Amino acid sequence: MLCGDKTVDKILIKGGKQLFGEIGISSAKNAFLPILAGSILCSGNVVLHKYPKYDDVTNMVEILENLGGKKKIVDDALMLDMNNLTNFEIPKELACLTRSSIFSLGSILGRFKFAKVAYPGGCEIGARPIDLHIKGLQALNVKVVDRRGYLTCDGREMKGGNVHLDFPSVGATENIMMAGVLAKGKTKIFNAAKEPEIVDLQNFLNRAGAKIKGAGTSTISIEGVKSLHNVEYTPIPDRIIAGTYIIATVMCGGEVTLNGAKTEHLQSLISKLDNNSCKIITKGDKIKVTSSGRLNSIAKIETMPYPGFPTDLQPQIMALQTISKGTSLIVENLFETRFKHTGELIKMGADILIEGRSAVVKGVNKLYGAEVVATDLRGGAGLVLAGLVADGYTTITNIGQINRGYESIENDLYSLGADIKRING
Ligand code: EPZ
Repeated sequence: MLCGDKTVDKILIKGGKQLFGEIGISSAKNAFLPILAGSILCSGNVVLHKYPKYDDVTNMVEILENLGGKKKIVDDALMLDMNNLTNFEIPKELACLTRSSIFSLGSILGRFKFAKVAYPGGCEIGARPIDLHIKGLQALNVKVVDRRGYLTCDGREMKGGNVHLDFPSVGATENIMMAGVLAKGKTKIFNAAKEPEIVDLQNFLNRAGAKIKGAGTSTISIEGVKSLHNVEYTPIPDRIIAGTYIIATVMCGGEVTLNGAKTEHLQSLISKLDNNSCKIITKGDKIKVTSSGRLNSIAKIETMPYPGFPTDLQPQIMALQTISKGTSLIVENLFETRFKHTGELIKMGADILIEGRSAVVKGVNKLYGAEVVATDLRGGAGLVLAGLVADGYTTITNIGQINRGYESIENDLYSLGADIKRING
């Protein structure tokens, strides 16, 4: 797949249907990706169950194969032979496909003591610098040369150390955690990100023989070990996909049960929606959503690091606010240009005013179907939700962005009764 590959397929939606039924939630993209990066540390066989067919994950597996890993898919499991890795480089044509290429730096250094990795790709939702990754590795005595779009790293003198993150960056936390696994001595990360996907990475690495504790809190400790061994693991379900379908049901009206979702990962969303003309009942790994389809606006939504409201659900909750009764203020604190989808929502009749990192969303009675473009992964998902409630037909192009993080958003929603399909471009 080429960087910025423009899939010519489109999604066509006829709005107005309520949603009913049950849906299973697939593995978390943002857990699977760092776990794949962590597989580089394992001199053995890695078996990962519930292998999701997201393009970002497929591209990450291609990166592992380029390093010398061998892959086999058996039923729903991805089997990786990581015994004979022969290459410590990630070229730009592979690195640009996903943000998680940069997460591999720490594990390549742990395995080879050298690494040469091109700048990463990922959604264009901001500058997305990598300074915290670089500073963190330098704190572990790694020599980093940042030139011509490549990071060339010498980790021969690498050793455990203390890393204070200026911001609780998810990727930097994961990268430094992985760099510490095979480093001599102890590494501590302060002001670490606390996302559930980081806990999942810790659990995966510890099962392979690592000694990590504290993931899920702001201080993580890693005791260096000699090597990691064979490991079999099932990553957590995708809380952002689950949140997307909760919001879809709330918007369309109806009754949908999500199976396999982890309720505790969705508290910030559920607390904003429950009892606002919709009912959300959670029981074990099931979440049942019942909705009349017409909600009151949520006065203020601020995206924050976990456990705050997730930035990856910001476009989707904005779509809900465009048809809610009243006015909502949405503040995007994580990424400086994560409002590109608002222009597309306005084409559909939404009333949104942007001022810097704030969006004032005035609810309208209805949206109108239109031809819109998926600007990025979650922006595209937000447009799908808007299309489900719009009057008439909505066509969404550039849906390769959506394929990066959903196996088939159209099949999932179709199975719940939506009038939605993929059409060849
Ligand atoms: C991860 O990206 C996720 N991606 C993103 O999901 C998610 O939006 C983000 O975390 C925040 O939760 C994956 O896990 C593959 P960050 P990441 O480093 O690690 C700044 C999706 O839709 N920063 O936590 O890149 C950065 O600019 C994607 O699934 C630096 O300044 O996010 C941003 O403002 C989109 N310097 C803030 O930190 C750095 O070196 C949070 O970024 C690194 C980050």
